Amino acid sequence: MAKAFKERVIYQIYPASFKDSNNDGWGDINGIISKLDYLKDLGVGILWLSPVYESPMDDMGYDISNYYKINPRFGTMEDFDNLIVEAKKRDILIVMDLVINHTSTKCEWFKEAIKGNPKYQDYYIIKEGKGNKAPNNWDSAFTGSAWEKIENSNKYFLRLFCDTQADLNYHNENVILEVEGIIKFWLDKGVYGFRCDVINSIYKTSLENDNPLKLYNKGTKFYQNQEGMFNVLKRFRNDVLSHYDTFLVGETGAITPKIGTRLINENCLDMFFEFDHIYADKSKILPIFRHKFSAKKLVSALFKRQLEVPYIANYLENHDQLRSVNRYGNVDKYYNESAKLLATLLLSLKGTPFIYQGEEIGSLNYKEISINETNDIAAKMTFTTIKKILRISDKKARKLVNETINRDHARAPMQRNSNQNGGFNDGNITWLKVNELYKEINVAKEENDENSILNFYKKVIKFRNESDVLKFGDFLEGKASNSLNYFYRRYKNKCYMIVLNFSPKKIKFNTPLDIKLLISNYKINDFKYLDPYFAGIFEVL
Ligand code: NOJ
Repeated sequence: MAKAFKERVIYQIYPASFKDSNNDGWGDINGIISKLDYLKDLGVGILWLSPVYESPMDDMGYDISNYYKINPRFGTMEDFDNLIVEAKKRDILIVMDLVINHTSTKCEWFKEAIKGNPKYQDYYIIKEGKGNKAPNNWDSAFTGSAWEKIENSNKYFLRLFCDTQADLNYHNENVILEVEGIIKFWLDKGVYGFRCDVINSIYKTSLENDNPLKLYNKGTKFYQNQEGMFNVLKRFRNDVLSHYDTFLVGETGAITPKIGTRLINENCLDMFFEFDHIYADKSKILPIFRHKFSAKKLVSALFKRQLEVPYIANYLENHDQLRSVNRYGNVDKYYNESAKLLATLLLSLKGTPFIYQGEEIGSLNYKEISINETNDIAAKMTFTTIKKILRISDKKARKLVNETINRDHARAPMQRNSNQNGGFNDGNITWLKVNELYKEINVAKEENDENSILNFYKKVIKFRNESDVLKFGDFLEGKASNSLNYFYRRYKNKCYMIVLNFSPKKIKFNTPLDIKLLISNYKINDFKYLDPYFAGIFEVL
């Protein structure tokens, strides 16, 4: 029998925004439990929860202060145990977010390290400053220096993200043992696996200065994809993971096919998220600048990974990305068709598909969000930095941030119906404002519309769940372009052709193959022309 993570569709829950059961403005674990039947009906078989651990929430839970406790905003450990039980009843598995590159500075380990407790001295990367400057010139992923000065000293701690996310030191055996304890604790609770946050950055080989002329991302060559990272992951596998039926999916920025292949073949990870395709509409060198979307870039980046690595986690959205229909679809004229096209693409690639909450109803970015309304730390830090460096007005800086960086677009409360707060709760407040479009785009409305995006997702997920070709078949390259795109999936003696028209024009389609339509976003029976944003899965006879 194939492993569950290779057969099932995975759904990402952003707990703060999924469903608020007690009307305090924050989504919670009981809210998730109340929607398990919805998720079952959608057809997903694994839920990945963004972090629910105790955290001051400076980076929305990606800054953990206690790995063994549940954030009271989300509920209690009892609620969590109950979630596992209720999910299991419905044959749904739970995956946790494992954030182990850094901890919050509110974590006891960090507090002890700063106090000078010898046991915790080397848990973090703490160095003397150079004169009154940071130990080196590395950048934070959220812009600015990657070092934070420790009060009343000339020492700094490394923090590749925000000023309260201190990087752990994986040269220290005790850190490895701590993490192994955490993994074991959650697996023993019945968690199925882990999504590993920025996992290919955990091992810092050296702390040298990077080329000072580099504009952004200084330092990455000393900590991304290092040999030490492979060794740490192998330790986790051998010491703990190999004793369970489990899996790891890594978040791995800047990964080459060669490194990705090694990660899988050497059993460090079971699959990973890569980032090449997300530059189909923005600059890779300076991601703050938006480019005109190129379907050819998107599809060929996806094809490349399909062909070059043994297994992959496929996604178009997550809590760090803007909504995919805004980015790759056509909101103005072909909203419904293009959202369905993206669903077809995601669910018919080789690998495990990840759907992000709200993607299944075609959620869109906010029309307007000011910096005061913004919660996302990365958006706020980038706003301040670009204003200073590019010497631009607040308005211009906000526009740039909102077009490419502001992660709150995807973090808005889930739109469930057209009541107040979009049915996210029945209270007066929400931690982040509700998207302006909740009356037009919401679950209840789409459930009642046979032609809705939600019902299309259900149909394609069901199709995938029942199709060995889509789950296990080989990928065969066809064509990537700004209009007609196609590829094949083949398993045993069956072959499917997936055809996508990424353009607002009707296009000619000539194929010498004898094909039969299995599923599509248009009701048609003549394929000489493909309608705008047509997407279909055909059987090759
Ligand atoms: C990647 C996570 O997805 C993102 O939300 C977070 O800000 C950074 N890692 C830091 O943990």
